[in-house]
Amino acid sequence: MFANQRLLPPVFLLMLVVFVICVALSTRAGIGVGDKASAADPKLADGLAAWEQVYSVLASPRCINCHTATNYPQQGDDRHRHFANVIRGPEGKGVPGLNCASCHQQENADSTGVPGGPNWHLAPLSMQWQDLNDQRLSSAAVCRAVTDRSKNNGLDGSGLLKHHEQEPLVLWAWNPGRRPDGTTRTLPPLTHAQFVAATRTWVEAGTPCPRTN
Ligand code: HEC
Ligand code: HEC
Repeated sequence: MFANQRLLPPVFLLMLVVFVICVALSTRAGIGVGDKASAADPKLADGLAAWEQVYSVLASPRCINCHTATNYPQQGDDRHRHFANVIRGPEGKGVPGLNCASCHQQENADSTGVPGGPNWHLAPLSMQWQDLNDQRLSSAAVCRAVTDRSKNNGLDGSGLLKHHEQEPLVLWAWNPGRRPDGTTRTLPPLTHAQFVAATRTWVEAGTPCPRTN
């Protein structure tokens, strides 16, 4: 092939250089991909994408109105402070004379516009998904809180999945009843089935959390 034997070393050298560059590039790409978790690990990427769906529900008013950082629950899609100066109280159940349960029954009371569910009360402060200015925490921060077993009643991945599947206060968000003015409350951005499916994908990927923020 090579008529001129003196061409061989340079050709060989060129191939070697190309080879080294290829290896270097693929290694760098590998690290970059692992960082952002995309093509390198499809399960992780699916898990992170599923988490963003889960987060879209957690951060929606029907859920986050009970997962506040302040000493009061919120109301409505604008998440304003609960009327009548209702306050959290020691166990999230209000204070004597103004307990949550003195107004909130086991079921929605559509004639008066009071939503209801079993043991209606605020989530503990360890399960807050907002800051003290009522701003939603980032997806990464909520993810860290929800997966921290010292903050979430010791729930592991399957415990979280079960909570999302069955907990009556979670299910309430998809049957939130009527407001005092008779209009129906808005629903979370996914159906309950979609929400459970997204939680399952996230749990099966090992409950990964975004790294930023
Ligand atoms: C004096 C009666 C009363 C008490 C006490 C009370 N609530 Fe309410 N709550 C209501 C009424 C009425 C509404 C409906 C207001 C509306 O939709 O405009 C409501 C709405 C809510 C909502 C809004 C749901 C949504 O997504 O819009 C939450 C959350 C809530 N209450 C939590 C609590 C918690 C937690 C407590 C106890 C710490 C409590 N409430 C105590 C009467 C009360
Ligand atoms: C009426 C108030 C209320 C509403 C509405 C509510 N939660 Fe909660 N949430 C609670 C309380 C109270 C707890 C603590 C439960 C316990 O102590 O067993 C809790 C705990 C949780 C937990 C346990 C883990 C953790 O770190 O917070 C998850 C997950 C959760 N809620 C998800 C949701 C989702 C999703 C929605 C909406 C679809 C929702 N919640 C709506 C009151 C509420």
